[in-house]
Amino acid sequence: MNTTATDSDAKATAEVTDQAARRRTFAVISHPDAGKSTLTEALALHAAAITSAGAVHGKGERRGVTSDWMEMEQSRGISITSAALRIDYGDCVFNLLDTPGHADFSEDTYRVLSAVDCAIMLLDSAKGLEPQTLKLFDVCRARNMPVITFVNKWDRPGREPLELLDEIEQRIGLRPTPLNWPVGIAGDFRGLIDRSDGTYTKLTRTPGGATRAVEERMDAEQAARAEGEEWGQAQEEIELLGEIEAHYDEKSFLAGESSPVLFGAALPNFGVSQLLETLVKLAPAPEDPVDVLGERRPVGAPFSGQVFKMQANMDKAHRDRMAFLRISSGRFDRGMVLTHGATGRPFATKYTQAVFGSERSTIESAYPGDVIALVNAAALSVGDTLYSGPKVEFAPIPSFSPEHFAVCRAKDSGRYKQFQRGIAQLDAEGVVQVLTSDVRGEQAPVLAAVGPLQFDVVSHRMAEEFNAPVELAHLEYSLARRTDADSAPTAHALSGAEVLKRRSDGELLVLVHNKYRLRVIKRDNPNLILEPLLAGGTD
Ligand code: G4P
Repeated sequence: MNTTATDSDAKATAEVTDQAARRRTFAVISHPDAGKSTLTEALALHAAAITSAGAVHGKGERRGVTSDWMEMEQSRGISITSAALRIDYGDCVFNLLDTPGHADFSEDTYRVLSAVDCAIMLLDSAKGLEPQTLKLFDVCRARNMPVITFVNKWDRPGREPLELLDEIEQRIGLRPTPLNWPVGIAGDFRGLIDRSDGTYTKLTRTPGGATRAVEERMDAEQAARAEGEEWGQAQEEIELLGEIEAHYDEKSFLAGESSPVLFGAALPNFGVSQLLETLVKLAPAPEDPVDVLGERRPVGAPFSGQVFKMQANMDKAHRDRMAFLRISSGRFDRGMVLTHGATGRPFATKYTQAVFGSERSTIESAYPGDVIALVNAAALSVGDTLYSGPKVEFAPIPSFSPEHFAVCRAKDSGRYKQFQRGIAQLDAEGVVQVLTSDVRGEQAPVLAAVGPLQFDVVSHRMAEEFNAPVELAHLEYSLARRTDADSAPTAHALSGAEVLKRRSDGELLVLVHNKYRLRVIKRDNPNLILEPLLAGGTD
């Protein structure tokens, strides 16, 4: 290689490394109604990515951040799949990956978390930790992912801040380290003290909340005069935080053991700029990814990325199938011909798009941490690696613990071929997990899902896309555990439980009605292997 080529290679690597360092790729984990759409909107507003808070909101007239597809989604008013939102902020590029905001979430919600470097755990100040937040947090925990906590709705009556911190520590074992501290109780929110330097930001409401809150900076003396008793109370609480050593600690934050906490209110835009600054300063940039062999590949290495989500029929005019890929290393240039790790075949990227809310625009280049959407991606599946240059593959995205099960049959047995093709395709895309057993036969596989909405997607797509309408019969199981061939006994021996094989990876799963039955099975079969699957797997 001559010197000029080496120089330009080094320059290209340096450019990618530099661009990767500017990225912050994250998702918001929350329970429905905690304020995720409002916060997303507020972040975008503050980052000046949009001009008015109304432009990016998931509901009603202001709908826009979610991707509209299928009539089903529109008629039910929910977002079935997730999109990525790019927000430029100063020198940083934020990639905010959206997770479906409905209680009826699916495996997609979990998979999004495999494509981010950090999560914002959004809590409603009056409610604290809620069920869906806990489920999503389990996935973050399994990956040791750094989590920033944002306690929202502080403008409304809520709980004591210390009580909320205690709940986080006691229930999920995450050590909270507040970065700011509220002055005035929830409902009478006056402003925020920055714990790093003791300065005070007094906040004043703006009508409708559709613009930035007015923020006035004060030193401690001015603040004490302005807020009187409330200031004193906040100072006492901060002293207490010092005594219990609730201080930000980088190492334990990055290991997913402690969580910086911010108080605020997304709707009136209180404390949102502090969250943006925290993302810049503390949230990790994309790291060198680890491949399936356990080796680190520098972010500046040639292009590689992993598909974390598939989506079909976004555009009705073209029955396209789209793959969302997170870039792990290298620079992406539209038109590149990549290699598909699973088949070794070339994959052309002429039609790649960037995703911004519901709008899709063609992109020219992208860097580690960015998400690109590949159209005409029928050959790809969730977890697939695409790369350029020498072969690389990333570990598969784990399957999550299903909680809903249904037997699926073709309505018209004459359409069995179409039925098989459709089920195989939906399995490959990861729309549902497909389980089979000799007893049930290939004609009646069991579909397993994290959320029942996944079954609606199956019914719709089997009828519309594969021309093979199906019947689904719900099964009364609610838990799945992994077992192995040696210890898998007959279903009979397991008091009504059933052993099935997952088609995608050959894993043997034991389906159990409920946790009480599971306990009985464990008691009666002490040598039986029954391992929880990732997320939702606590007994
Ligand atoms: P989600 O995406 O997590 O489901 O929540 P979303 O943002 O839609 O917020 C749920 C409700 O909480 C909304 O009210 C929203 O306005 C309100 N909200 C969000 N953040 C705050 C906050 O900081 N303070 C207060 N007081 N309210 C907040 P809604 O009436 O249910 O919906 P909408 O009609 O306003 O859209």
